[in-house]
Amino acid sequence: NSQLPLAGKHALVTSGPTIEPIDSVRFIANHSSGKQGHAIAAALARQGATVTLVCGPVTIDPPLGVKLVSVDTAQQMYDACMAALPADIAVCAAAVADWRAQSPQDHKMKKQAADIMTLNLVKNPDILATLGHHQQRPDLLIGFAAETENLETNAQQKRKAKNCDWIVGNLVTTSSGADLSDDLVFGHDKNTIILVRDGTSEAWPQMPKTDIADKLVAAMITTLHQKSTL
Ligand code: PMT
Repeated sequence: NSQLPLAGKHALVTSGPTIEPIDSVRFIANHSSGKQGHAIAAALARQGATVTLVCGPVTIDPPLGVKLVSVDTAQQMYDACMAALPADIAVCAAAVADWRAQSPQDHKMKKQAADIMTLNLVKNPDILATLGHHQQRPDLLIGFAAETENLETNAQQKRKAKNCDWIVGNLVTTSSGADLSDDLVFGHDKNTIILVRDGTSEAWPQMPKTDIADKLVAAMITTLHQKSTL
């Protein structure tokens, strides 16, 4: 619908976890469900954007009307995002693994006699930072920061380091355990965020991830109007 505010705009959204193989049966992953990223992709599409959703392995359905690119690893997500450029808007909501196994084995690794096993990891490419410093940098580039402490400071630092316009910060797993029920963000339907723009930060009350998505997209439309790109 050409009357919608984001008609003619291409939005790139990353969502979900990435999984990094250790051997043919094991992998490194995280608890991202894709709910927050998918809600943003859906909200962008509702406002008329053409949406490319690059998504790691999730069990939820993709929103209607978006172009879905399914990937497993961070490297595949990176390649898919670069292939999707140019984009007017990019939102990196995926929980991308920072590290991958240096030498994934193509067979199931045998249990060794030693009690300690060492796995060498190498750094994955940073998709958000690459987009932030890209020749074809999107007009509006939005990252997330999942932090367990010092949310605002870390979110501000990430915004600068990755050269993005906004960072959506959320506090995740406050306990030291891996029990998902302790976490109020990963996998849940609600989220509590701070929105960091320039030097300022705005705390939003807890609300459904779908409402966060709608409010973020409304703010994107306002900002693009101000930048006169709409
Ligand atoms: O999927 P849900 O269950 O709904 O949960 C939502 C969420 C918690 C996953 C989401 O709200 C969120 O916070 N996503 C970002 C998680 C994350 O990996 O944060 P980070 O602080 O490690 O990364 C900072 C930013 O850089 C993120 O925008 C991330 O997408 C991006 N990044 C990180 C590493 C990398 N190699 N490439 C990236 O693009």
